[in-house]
Amino acid sequence: MKKLFFLAVLLVGVFSFAFAGTGVKKRRPLPFEYGRVVIDNYSEEADFIPVVFDHWLHRAKFTCRLCHVDIGFAMKANETRIRAVDNSNGYYCGSCHNGEAVFPSCRNDISPKEFQICIRCHSVGRRVDRKYDFREFTKDLPKGRLGNGVDWEKAEQQGKITPVDYIEGISIKRDKFVDPKDFELKSKVMGMPNIIFSHRKHTVWNGCEVCHPEIFVGIKKGMTKYSMADFYEGRYCGVCHNSVAFPLLDCQRCHTENVR
Ligand code: HEC
Ligand code: HEC
Ligand code: HEC
Ligand code: HEC
Ligand code: HEC
Ligand code: HEC
Repeated sequence: MKKLFFLAVLLVGVFSFAFAGTGVKKRRPLPFEYGRVVIDNYSEEADFIPVVFDHWLHRAKFTCRLCHVDIGFAMKANETRIRAVDNSNGYYCGSCHNGEAVFPSCRNDISPKEFQICIRCHSVGRRVDRKYDFREFTKDLPKGRLGNGVDWEKAEQQGKITPVDYIEGISIKRDKFVDPKDFELKSKVMGMPNIIFSHRKHTVWNGCEVCHPEIFVGIKKGMTKYSMADFYEGRYCGVCHNSVAFPLLDCQRCHTENVR
């Protein structure tokens, strides 16, 4: 009986949230498209091809914290305002794509052969030979229901991926913080299971600095007020859980208590 009620609440929820905002349902991204960012502040302006950045490959190799804190990418598409010259000088994409650790990024005066390197990133609308095929890469990773179709949490726990959190010369050595305790968030709607928020599980990817103080003040629990509607607008939990980490449609992964 309880289960049925949960389902009913869930369905009403799904319908009201899937159409939240514009009233028009956006096409749901395919697994390989989930977490994809098209970067185009300057490319088209310079008569060049816009850039495609895929989270699935990069997040399997590096932590969110490394890129979003140490390297300094914004948590919103096109907000960093990356320039070709920054990349050439070893910032942003060029922190790794420097021709040593990984294939190089932007340069002037290139030979036609080197153009093949440019279009690995400047690839919007191009068919590019990729080194990593999404299906091949994810086939042995634990399955998830939505998003990339991968349970990234399990993949990390089982050691199938070991995201790097430190790059010599870019990251600053820090002492490890102690993870605060897991806590329960009340869903405040009868029949809707509560949420357990795990600091420990989040810290693996995000350290502390991705969330505190920008997304959550984090001084005292309950100081930051939010609801599902905020998440759908890309705030709080929704900063990550609608674009890169598993999406909001995956209700049961957050509302876990008392269900199943
Ligand atoms: C590792 C990925 C990567 C590679 C490889 C790469 N770029 Fe870029 N490039 C970027 C990103 C990201 C931007 C910012 C895009 C934007 O905002 O439009 C950019 C921007 C540019 C711009 C826009 C003008 C400007 O001042 O920012 C030009 C022109 C450019 N790159 C040329 C090149 C050329 C030529 C090559 C090949 C030698 C190349 N890039 C290879 C990632 C890359
Ligand atoms: C290799 C570097 C790298 C890693 C690792 C990485 N990101 Fe990103 N992320 C980026 C870049 C680059 C952008 C685009 C920024 C821009 O366009 O200004 C971005 C954008 C985002 C956005 C905005 C997406 C949108 O559509 O607006 C979110 C949210 C995000 N990242 C979360 C994460 C999370 C969560 C993780 C870890 C699971 C992660 N990122 C790992 C580089 C990275
Ligand atoms: C923290 C390091 C790091 C940063 C920052 C980074 N990358 Fe990468 N990227 C990698 C590594 C490692 C690979 C895998 C290279 C390999 O195995 O040859 C890769 C591969 C790629 C590929 C090739 C995928 C394929 O299948 O061929 C593209 C495209 C790419 N990155 C784009 C970008 C763009 C665009 C940015 C900046 C917005 C960026 N990367 C920032 C580390 C990084
Ligand atoms: C994914 C995001 C996220 C990460 C990563 C994260 N936190 Fe939090 N933290 C939260 C949320 C959500 C709350 C409660 C909401 C609020 O700020 O009101 C919170 C609350 C706190 C609190 C107040 C606890 C209380 O009981 O009153 C402290 C202290 C804290 N965090 C420290 C840390 C430290 C230290 C780290 C790194 C080891 C960390 N957090 C990593 C999201 C995060
Ligand atoms: C800075 C990005 C970020 C924010 C903000 C964030 N998460 Fe996450 N969360 C992640 C990532 C990354 C994972 C790993 C799984 C994945 O990527 O799909 C994760 C995993 C989880 C999991 C599964 C792990 C577990 O504990 O069993 C739950 C549940 C979860 N998040 C709930 C929340 C809630 C609730 C909030 C808001 C209070 C929140 N998250 C805010 C990035 C974030
Ligand atoms: C990333 C984790 C996460 C996912 C996924 C998620 N929720 Fe929530 N939900 C929360 C959190 C956290 C709260 C508590 C907000 C607060 O403290 O008031 C909440 C609260 C709620 C509430 C109470 C009222 C409100 O709007 O805040 C309802 C109803 C609800 N969720 C329904 C759903 C449904 C239906 C889905 C699937 C479509 C879903 N949730 C997916 C984290 C999540």
